[in-house]
Amino acid sequence: MNNFTYQCPTKVIFGKNSIKEIKNEIPKNAKVLAIFGGGSVKTNGVYEQVTQALEGFFVREFWGVEPNPRLETCQKALNLIKEHEIDFLLSVGGGSVLDATKFIAAAAKFDGEIWDIVGLRAKFSDAMPLGCVMTLPATGSEMNCASVISNGALKIKKSFKNPLVYPRFSIIDPQTTFSLPLRQLRNGIVDTFVHVLEQYATQDLSTDVQDGFCLSVLKAVIQNAKALESEPQNYDVRANLCWAATCALNGWASLGCVQDWSSHAIGHELSAAYGIDHGLSLAVVTTRLLRYNIKFKSTKLAKMGRELFALNGDEMSVAMACTHKIEELFASTGIATSLAELGLDKFEVAEQISNRFKERNLVAGEHANIDYKAVRQILLEC
Ligand code: NZQ
Ligand code: ZN
Repeated sequence: MNNFTYQCPTKVIFGKNSIKEIKNEIPKNAKVLAIFGGGSVKTNGVYEQVTQALEGFFVREFWGVEPNPRLETCQKALNLIKEHEIDFLLSVGGGSVLDATKFIAAAAKFDGEIWDIVGLRAKFSDAMPLGCVMTLPATGSEMNCASVISNGALKIKKSFKNPLVYPRFSIIDPQTTFSLPLRQLRNGIVDTFVHVLEQYATQDLSTDVQDGFCLSVLKAVIQNAKALESEPQNYDVRANLCWAATCALNGWASLGCVQDWSSHAIGHELSAAYGIDHGLSLAVVTTRLLRYNIKFKSTKLAKMGRELFALNGDEMSVAMACTHKIEELFASTGIATSLAELGLDKFEVAEQISNRFKERNLVAGEHANIDYKAVRQILLEC
């Protein structure tokens, strides 16, 4: 096991009717900017609950953060912050709204070209405080300090991480997810699953506690994704999916481990180039990437295949069979798992995404072997 340091300052407030707790978490004299997406919160009662909880506070609203949030949108919020001397940000929505809020928090205090914040080209040493109401189980953004932002002009999607943008608090009321369209539930299930894989399916460093934790999160996702079909109104199913999504990317899974993140690296390029949903991009790429790198991943995938899918046989055949089980699992949610299902030509996509890696000298993966040539080969299998 590698050495590690872990600290997460986010206070998680989880459960039914927890949105009202906002009022106890934001300083009374704060000037709050509430940040929203495209309007889902107005149809599912979340906006009403947030507004009630914020009664008596100075509040301005910023609307219109889109899925795969853009730099250009975030820039508009900065004007409001200046105009009203805002000193606290509240994100209300899914991972995109929260990622945008984290970026805005950093950009508002940043002296320089704000696009430099992503990709960690520039370190920043200050950020506005922020809190969150998370309405979509997927990204884990509610308990981590990462954010992914797209630059519309450059057509580039990139992430950054900085402890300064941990939410001060995150409210997760699983009831808010009852209004999610099937498409977003599927995206979230795949995203959660792949977050665990990016951290678990790497070299074996005798991380017994972390491995057990990862497999238990994956098991919960498998069971509750299945239960969702027969019991879409079951609160506990929603609660388990929400907590699995948070736990999949709050740092616990990767303590002392080596991480990969190459499915995400390719997925972000697909989203930037073709506007594909984040979860969907992972459903297409992940299992092909696992097979491409199977020689590095066979020990962990075999362990997973035996424990989660009751597979038998030698390490390599169980590892391979495990990747097919993962693909079946994704397909069973109804999500597309190939480029053809998305109406995309794999030859054209492989060329374009491979060129994007080549032009920007991008290399990804735990063994830094996912370069433009590997990307082409992987996408030709998609
Ligand atoms: O915009 P509104 O109207 O709110 O609608 C949203 C949006 O259209 C809707 N939605 C959210 N909650 C809802 C709801 N609709 C009905 N009922 C609800 N309760 O869902 C749509 C998608 O929302 P979005 O926030 O884009 O989805 P998600 O949470 O999956 O976030 C995806 C973004 O997060 C990034 C992705 O790359 C992508 O940009 N990620 C962030 C990570 C992080 N910060 O750690 C890690 C992830 O790997 C990921 O990269
Ligand atoms: Zn993800």
